[in-house]
Amino acid sequence: MVKISNFIPEGVEDINSAQYGEIEKMQGIIGDVFKSLKYQQIQTPTFEYYDLFAGIDMAIDKDQMYKIIDTNGKILVLRPDATIPIARMVATNYDVLDEPQKYMYFSNVFRNSDFRAGGKREFIQAGIEYFGDASSSADAEVICTAIQALTACGFNQLKVELGDANFFNGLMDSLEDKIDKETKNDIRILVESKNSPGLASLLKTLAIEEKYKDVLLKLPFLYGPIDQMTDLAESLSLNDMMRESVEDVRHIYRQIEEKGLGQYIYADMGLVNHLDYYSGMIFKIYLQNTGLIVGSGGRYDGLMRKFGKKIPATGFGLNMDVLFEALQSERKQEQILKIALGKGRLAEITLEKLKAIGIHFPDYDKNSRKLIFDDGEGKIRIVFVKAGDVDIYVEKGACDLGVAGKDTLMESNSDVYEMLDLGYGKCRFAIAAMIGFEKTAHKKIRVATKYPNVAKNYYEKKGLPIEIIKINGSVELAPIMGLSDVIVDIVETGTTLKENGLEIIETIEDVSARLIVNRVSLKIKQEAVTTIINALRRQD
Ligand code: PRP
Repeated sequence: MVKISNFIPEGVEDINSAQYGEIEKMQGIIGDVFKSLKYQQIQTPTFEYYDLFAGIDMAIDKDQMYKIIDTNGKILVLRPDATIPIARMVATNYDVLDEPQKYMYFSNVFRNSDFRAGGKREFIQAGIEYFGDASSSADAEVICTAIQALTACGFNQLKVELGDANFFNGLMDSLEDKIDKETKNDIRILVESKNSPGLASLLKTLAIEEKYKDVLLKLPFLYGPIDQMTDLAESLSLNDMMRESVEDVRHIYRQIEEKGLGQYIYADMGLVNHLDYYSGMIFKIYLQNTGLIVGSGGRYDGLMRKFGKKIPATGFGLNMDVLFEALQSERKQEQILKIALGKGRLAEITLEKLKAIGIHFPDYDKNSRKLIFDDGEGKIRIVFVKAGDVDIYVEKGACDLGVAGKDTLMESNSDVYEMLDLGYGKCRFAIAAMIGFEKTAHKKIRVATKYPNVAKNYYEKKGLPIEIIKINGSVELAPIMGLSDVIVDIVETGTTLKENGLEIIETIEDVSARLIVNRVSLKIKQEAVTTIINALRRQD
């Protein structure tokens, strides 16, 4: 007899009739809003040529796409995104548009997401695409449509964060001949994840004027009320492109305000996602009661240019699965700020640092087996998790903030903002071997480690083939017992290596404790989160 429970792949699920009813209801409400604004429903094929997506910096990695080999040997992908196929459809059929075209869709999209983060492999995306209108009123209409669709479903606690890709692009334009394309992309990735420590260390290595470095270092913190942030961004602008992008954000905001929806809008001039794709305003949508981003959009004339057409385009997509989750968890919303700490030495130092900024946990006892403690005022809660799990609690929004070692962050590559280098918990990633070790020629190096991804990435960059042996602790034993040639591990004092006859043969990177923040919490619980970030920053 076959074990039937083995026949449902991870990351997908059946939808029962009750759930289907809910889905239909929500799609009906959202669809009515879209249709009332004259968007016409379309559907693109479930699979497309891989080449359509290759070479475009988009929301998902190429290796997250499901690929199929066609009978003629061509690679197809299951639709990983709804916008690109619709842009392909318009670009295939038109050179120019005599009048705007407005489309809406409900499409299943497929992505090979990370199971560690409970990722889904198939979900429904709903959205609109507005072609043929380059004006800011088209952008404002798109954002207003997103707000109206969500409020019609009953989501009133929402925030839309508005930025403009050209603020960053303008800055990069000024640096055109000073840094290469690869470095620009590294900077973009660091700004996108608000990785201020990473950005600071990269900038130290670049021979560019201080004025550029100053603006870049401020980018991760340019979020907040529209007027305040656009004024600040204007004062930081170094050329016309940057100034125009700020004006663009103001202009769009004013039109949204005129429609009575201004209260939902905040600015983030550090929004720089997927710049191959977006070439003007960009926005993201957050709901109070979910730690996940529910939607995003922007102007993507640049994508149309990539397809060889000068057709302006703007639009957004909503993740319907996140919306269903949010609908169900509506009652669970808590205002208390939750901080994830990894049990151990890092937690003890963090508690001292928090105490120094006036945050106490009166019931905390380090010998207790209790895992959750609240401050006296019911405003902040600390949650003790395994050190390697801090980032996952924060990524999924179970906790708003967390303190994690850079070592665990490098290993997991989680989708969180890495906002502060807390300066303690210092150690380094190193490659170590038995004293006198010599690599055998033409043989793969056998690497024992608790950090397989760090080891893989490092050796891949060096172009050296390795065999990874995943060990859960006391890695130093592996070369002694002949299990591996070298180890990749963290070294603090060096005592463990020394006492076991090993030595460092290469240093990979210095690591220390980082303050990480959930992407949605930073915006939804902005005041409380930013107060803590600023207080800890001042402590440096
Ligand atoms: C870490 C690391 C090294 C040791 C380095 O192990 O994996 O073994 O600390 O510290 P040192 O340079 O100060 O000697 P940990 O204590 O976390 O134990 P584990 O290897 O059993 O996980």
